[in-house]
Amino acid sequence: MANADDIALEPPLSRNAGVTPAVEDRSYLGFIAAALAAALGGGFLMAVWMPLAATGTVTGQDRVPWLIQAHGWVQVQGWAGLFVAGMAVRLMPRFAGRPPVRRNVTMPLLVLLAVPVALRMTLQPWADGTLAEATALTIGGLSATGAAGVAAILTWTLARGRKAREPWRYFAWAGTAWWGVLAAMLAAWGWRAARNEGLAPVAWDDVMTWVVLFGPIGNFIWSVQSRSVPIFFGRKTPTWRQAVVPGVAYNAGAALVALSLAFEGETAARLSGSGLLLAGAGMVWLPVIAGSVWGRAKRLRPRAKPAARFVLGANIAAVVAGVLLVWAGAQTALDGEYAEFAARDAARHVVGIGLVTMLILGMARLVAPVFALERTESGVPKLYERAPFWLLLGAVALRGGSALLAEQISYDARMHSAAAAGGMAWVALAVFALSVARAVRKESANKQSLEEQARAAAERRARGQ
Ligand code: HEM
Repeated sequence: MANADDIALEPPLSRNAGVTPAVEDRSYLGFIAAALAAALGGGFLMAVWMPLAATGTVTGQDRVPWLIQAHGWVQVQGWAGLFVAGMAVRLMPRFAGRPPVRRNVTMPLLVLLAVPVALRMTLQPWADGTLAEATALTIGGLSATGAAGVAAILTWTLARGRKAREPWRYFAWAGTAWWGVLAAMLAAWGWRAARNEGLAPVAWDDVMTWVVLFGPIGNFIWSVQSRSVPIFFGRKTPTWRQAVVPGVAYNAGAALVALSLAFEGETAARLSGSGLLLAGAGMVWLPVIAGSVWGRAKRLRPRAKPAARFVLGANIAAVVAGVLLVWAGAQTALDGEYAEFAARDAARHVVGIGLVTMLILGMARLVAPVFALERTESGVPKLYERAPFWLLLGAVALRGGSALLAEQISYDARMHSAAAAGGMAWVALAVFALSVARAVRKESANKQSLEEQARAAAERRARGQ
């Protein structure tokens, strides 16, 4: 081992208490698979169905309020939440110099996080009466326990890890604290929705999904990016002095939005408006220092370079959403009522499709071990590697653009544009899911041939050749 705090991973021949079995590393694939199932079978499917139902084009018009809330939660808790939880539980121990979290911890956590998302995809939109009440309470209870589990694992990892004064660690601590807050919010969600036919109060639910995007999701986006993305583009990673002002503005904004959930009427609107303004200002600044909004990914291998396009697109989307949030937040805080729905709806989807979805697809290709083999291959990237970027770019422009034109175009036109954007995003995610399956299949075949080579080499050595 190079030095004392290196983690001893299992060579193929020895086993003892001080060695961490290597298999632990693959459980992140379970989180990726669950996140993709939530996206393709729930969030993005409802992104097509729900707007079409809203215009009476397909069945379900009477369930649209439930479909909107289910869509929103499956996207932030399922697609984004499961992916971020899986990558945080995998990457934070590495960043902090701690052994990987064991499978007998990560697998029960995955079940706790995935089951309520499955209930949101199936029962939450359609259940009524006692079933709606029981479903909401179960979703609230299980989700809260899962979120508390993520917070506990990350607190343990960061508290015992390296004490680097680097932005990734402060964003990771902020994100971890927000997973704790999310546990309380999800329990409250279950309780309030259970007393209202499975539907949480609309404005309250809308605001809560913003807290999830900023807190537990957003902070890990800035944590992971701040440690890697500037390097991809040949720049230094930011110092904590560079990150402290936008980081504090961003989290103070999220805290004000969360605080507004405890109030009603004008006070709630002013608090949430001020929060959106502050978080929006942080979101304009953070991509510039912790991510990348310009330049060429000169430090990446040729085959990995196209994935950098997703990262650039995601960070530029964050700046655009930040500007929209500063505008909508200022109007809401000044008016003392929820103003600028169009700008808030557009900002949410520029964040959801742009920052979150594009970054997941880009960073997965750049840092997930399952794509390691592909990153070393020569040759030009295949269509299936390039197509999702253009499909997502089209989806973010169509969904964000039609939302901003809410007052200029008819409701049906807005909903049909949304459904078209949903279809483009669904295809992008399906192509990405196929490339993950392809990489997993190639990875195990590759691992098998490497093991055979090692065995043959050991036999040759044993025969003294
Ligand atoms: C192209 C893909 C998408 C389409 C077409 C779409 C469509 C929609 C529509 C039509 C609404 C209802 C807006 C209204 O109230 O008028 C909505 C709400 C919402 N969407 Fe999406 N969406 C997409 C992707 C996403 C993503 C990726 C996320 C998050 C990661 C997301 C999160 C939300 C949330 C949180 C709400 C609000 C739910 C609530 O009010 O409770 N969406 N979406």
